[in-house]
Amino acid sequence: MIEILVFVLVVLVLMFGFVIFFGAPYLPTLKKQQQEALDLLDLQPGQLLLELGSGDGRLLRMAADRGINVIGYEINPILFLISKISCIGYGDRIQIKLANFWSVELPECDGIYVFLLDKYMERLNNKIIQEIRGKVALVSFAFPIKSKKSTTDKVGLYLYKYDNK
Ligand SMILES: C[S@@+](CC[C@H](N)C(=O)[O-])C[C@H]1O[C@@H](n2cnc3c(N)ncnc32)[C@H](O)[C@@H]1O
Repeated sequence: MIEILVFVLVVLVLMFGFVIFFGAPYLPTLKKQQQEALDLLDLQPGQLLLELGSGDGRLLRMAADRGINVIGYEINPILFLISKISCIGYGDRIQIKLANFWSVELPECDGIYVFLLDKYMERLNNKIIQEIRGKVALVSFAFPIKSKKSTTDKVGLYLYKYDNK
């Protein structure tokens, strides 16, 4: 019995721990902050939101309930599976990709939501500038981009507006 528990523990640590080499480990944004993040992004039904590191899919569902189309990128296969199952019924409005978002060329979109770590914010800023043309809004929970002035800074949510050439 102890062996099984240790085995399960080791598997879980490996499954969730490897993420620290690519980005932030799993910690979900609270519901209130998710609602505020979507309010800040102010996307209209039919517009496209990307969530980079989409965890268990809770923000994807909340955005889809507002009529927003969403693509989530999640590197952890367990969270990917949980989110796929929990988003059944949303059809094409929610797409979830099992992927390292650093290795993906970001598609044209209207908004991006992240909850990462401080050390990844500059890299993310560069990625958005290089890969997305035109206007896009970014909301980051907890961690600001130090080199860029946020439009709004509300209870730990930082809103950035880009208009890339
Ligand atoms: C702090 S959690 C936030 C989860 C969700 N965005 C939320 O706010 O509730 C960070 C998530 O990003 C995922 N992640 C970290 N680095 C990633 C990467 N390079 N590509 C895809 N997902 C990544 C983690 O597995 C984790 O689910």
